[in-house]
Amino acid sequence: MKPINIGLMGVGTVGGGVATVLKRNAEEISRRAGRDIRLTIASRRNVEQARELVGADVTVVADAFAVVNHPDVDIVVELIGGDTVAKELVLQAIANGKHVVTANKKLLAVHGNEIFARAQEKGVMVAFEAAVAGGIPIIKALREGLSANRIEWLAGIINGTSNFILSEMREKGADFADVLKEAQALGYAEADPTFDVEGHDAGHKLTIMAAIAFGIPMHFDQCYLEGISQLAGKDIQYAEELGYRVKLLGLTRRTEQGVELRVHPTLIPEQQLIANVNGVMNAVLVRGDAIGQALFNGPGAGALPTASAVVADIVDVARLLTSDPEHRVPHLAFQPDQLKDLPILPM
Ligand code: HSE
Repeated sequence: MKPINIGLMGVGTVGGGVATVLKRNAEEISRRAGRDIRLTIASRRNVEQARELVGADVTVVADAFAVVNHPDVDIVVELIGGDTVAKELVLQAIANGKHVVTANKKLLAVHGNEIFARAQEKGVMVAFEAAVAGGIPIIKALREGLSANRIEWLAGIINGTSNFILSEMREKGADFADVLKEAQALGYAEADPTFDVEGHDAGHKLTIMAAIAFGIPMHFDQCYLEGISQLAGKDIQYAEELGYRVKLLGLTRRTEQGVELRVHPTLIPEQQLIANVNGVMNAVLVRGDAIGQALFNGPGAGALPTASAVVADIVDVARLLTSDPEHRVPHLAFQPDQLKDLPILPM
């Protein structure tokens, strides 16, 4: 059977990880996908650096539009980030009938309603496991593993940089600014770390999870955001003396009146499992009416954990491509005409 051709836009930390995983686990991945998966073309402004990361057998171009317009590409992987050029590229890919895999939480939280509507019209899939909680398959858990449940609420540590900073401040009595620099050097933080420490990144991820959990459109503009930049070492020490840990949580809950959607530092009793999730790790605690509570824990950032989620989406899309398009349930995307809007409660 003809291989599935991948076009990769953005060859940085995660893009390099995707190339590595596709190569290293090629046999297992092809078996699970039912087809060979071939990284055909990749883009990055600095072509030489990209070539070092993806290898000599992949065509490397500077212009990402050459990827979305490439006639042989079946699945476009968007790892550029942001919501300007990335949005244009994703919409162009959809218009060209390509399936999309993206790790771009901001793009989906802010423009997801439009993007999924376009994808539905064109009958293409948009998969986004890597957009939330790095390597933890929380999107698949909410959408598939817990599909029998009425989800009541979920609460997550979903920004690795903030969790790393809070953990280091507690364990080493380190200063906020110093730990932030360390997180940037380790490649966890966003290009603009304000997104991490002021709760925006967590808000993007929470918006996406709430949309899946409750079957509602994306409402990032109504998400309450409060970050960790105002926390001092002594806040964390006092909490510790009282038996609590301070965590930046994203919380969403369905109530009779509507949906709560909020990100803020939270005191958690130290004996709770989620209070002991430290460093760049993420965790999401989900409450469903059938399962009760389930905690999903794992690495929330980094090249290979995020690549794990990106490649899993490629496998999912490839599997679906073997089914009859007329009868395909496009579970990877939202179907905007099937969502039910609920009011977001003011905080
Ligand atoms: N800056 C993000 C974080 C990266 O720290 O969690 C993964 O989305």
